[in-house]
Amino acid sequence: MRLQIAGVALAIGLSFSAATQAGAVSGSMLGNTCAGCHGINGASAAETMPIIGGQGKGYLETAMKNYRDGSRASTIMGRIAKGYNDEQISAMSAFFAKQPWVSAAQPTDAKLAKQGEKLYAKSCKMCHANNGTKAAEDGPPRLAGQWTTSLRLYLDCVNDAKCANKHPMREQLFGKASKADIDALLQFFASKK
Ligand code: HEC
Ligand code: HEC
Repeated sequence: MRLQIAGVALAIGLSFSAATQAGAVSGSMLGNTCAGCHGINGASAAETMPIIGGQGKGYLETAMKNYRDGSRASTIMGRIAKGYNDEQISAMSAFFAKQPWVSAAQPTDAKLAKQGEKLYAKSCKMCHANNGTKAAEDGPPRLAGQWTTSLRLYLDCVNDAKCANKHPMREQLFGKASKADIDALLQFFASKK
């Protein structure tokens, strides 16, 4: 009797660890296919490819699903995201969320960054907290240290009436933000590592 119980416990223990391992392996294995563009572990070294390692799991998941159904504009991610089901997207998102954030190595303009800080405090801080360094688990992404080229592509799109991106402040902010304001904001985020 005792032996039987031990056997059951062993079987349960084994199946648990096998399941955990399979999940972990598939997240990182699927994530490898993204490295050609987003860098090793999502630390992109190319200015047109956003850094994804260290963003929140929920944010990454939503971004992939929005690319897949066309509710977030893209040049290439729409096609890529269509190749993955919800479970695979969830596993990859968990994998990238666990990676350390590595800020982009890019020059910053200190004077513009200072102007940007005021705009940030007024209009962005309430969601993109801690100078934009916070990556919310299931909300606003980290902006500090992200490639400015990549952020600009997103914001330019938000400013365009035909754009699919559903930024929560689209109506209030981006229709009215001038190019100079956006430049200053981007320099502010680039200056925060
Ligand atoms: C061929 C290059 C390429 C590959 C491969 C690629 N991406 Fe992307 N990714 C991009 C580009 C470019 C963008 C910006 C949106 C666009 O124009 O498509 C982007 C944007 C993203 C974003 C939005 C990040 C943000 O904060 O703005 C996520 C999330 C993402 N990709 C995840 C992935 C995952 C996960 C994979 C692997 C399954 C992957 N990408 C493979 C090029 C690529
Ligand atoms: C009400 C909350 C809120 C405010 C205020 C806000 N944001 Fe956002 N922001 C978000 C959320 C949520 C997302 C993710 C949207 C998505 O999934 O497409 C986001 C996404 C972004 C992105 C895309 C990042 C990426 O890597 O693709 C940029 C850029 C951005 N915000 C800039 C700003 C700027 C600049 C301000 C201030 C002028 C601002 N946001 C104010 C909530 C907010």
